[in-house]
Amino acid sequence: MEKTIKIDLRSDTVTSPSEEMREAIYKAKVGDHGYGEDETTVELEEYCAKYFGKEAGLFMASGTMSDQVSIRCWTQAGDEIILDGSYHINYFQAGPSTDLGKILLNTCHSKDGVLRVEDIEKAICNKIRGNLFSRPALISLENTINGYGGTIFPIENLKEVYSFAQKQGIPLHMDGERFLNACIATNIPVKEYALYTDSISTSFSKGLGAPFGSIIMGSKNFIEKAKKYRRWYGGSLHQSGFMAAAALFAIKNNVQRLEVDHHNAKLLGSLLKSSKYLNINLETVQTNMVMLDTRDIGLTAKEFVSLCEKKGVFLYPWHTYTVRAVTHLGISEKDVCLAASKIREVCEGITKRKVG
Ligand SMILES: Cc1ncc(COP(=O)(O)O)c(C=O)c1O
Repeated sequence: MEKTIKIDLRSDTVTSPSEEMREAIYKAKVGDHGYGEDETTVELEEYCAKYFGKEAGLFMASGTMSDQVSIRCWTQAGDEIILDGSYHINYFQAGPSTDLGKILLNTCHSKDGVLRVEDIEKAICNKIRGNLFSRPALISLENTINGYGGTIFPIENLKEVYSFAQKQGIPLHMDGERFLNACIATNIPVKEYALYTDSISTSFSKGLGAPFGSIIMGSKNFIEKAKKYRRWYGGSLHQSGFMAAAALFAIKNNVQRLEVDHHNAKLLGSLLKSSKYLNINLETVQTNMVMLDTRDIGLTAKEFVSLCEKKGVFLYPWHTYTVRAVTHLGISEKDVCLAASKIREVCEGITKRKVG
């Protein structure tokens, strides 16, 4: 491995707190939040609730905890959640969703991760319904859609699904860990976008660059219920203000700069596409991710990722032939150009090997 280079594009969770963020953590006013007395955590929850136009918020240890607590609040054992099979709640969290939530994942297989009313209707009608049977209790969406390369769940589709959900009396949860990426990319105000959800999460430790945490937001009733399950799941932290201070810093300072990550992802996508070795659909490069298809160079994602690592470029093998690259606040335009040239070298090496 060329030791001098390490460009880590595996995820936007790999960032390290800036000096200013560390300063905010150091100076945080804390109390025991087991008694609801950590003023920085309270400030964060109130700030975010207002920012998203919801009545209340609850600070969580991780995105997984946000999702699992939300599922627990909205459902009972034996209920169903309707969602796309690619969403994190199914793709990575099928174990906790079914074990902790004791629910069934009724997965749709939409063409692009954007669930439409027809997909949801089909999922509802795919088995017998009524008081004696399993109940579709929650519709869960994702924005941005990780499995499709950080694509945007368009607000028009969201409005349609939300209006359908309301007619059916089914709540809508938004796994919005990268929701702010969608807001920045579309220029849609956060409150307007979040209006069409009953509960919504967002992460501080992905694009926003904090070391810890996520938050769920919704009605006061929902959050009161969520407090109980957060405690049950071990997420009731004591001096959480140190982590909340980093999160507050992140949401106050690092949202608008997501446009830099989006620019860098587009640059990476177009540099790699122009090298013609890898199949890349630039239409899906809408926020901070690029998905590479390794089939044309005859390698699996894992094989390709391990060759790139030897050149100092770290990528994530998403699926058998799909590799994910994510830009974030630790990645500059210069890093992107260097990463693209190293990836190109890997592709050239493979092509030569095949020909020779
Ligand atoms: C859409 C989505 N939801 C939930 C999670 C889980 O977040 P965490 O890793 O903080 O548990 C992730 C993680 O990448 C995600 O992308």
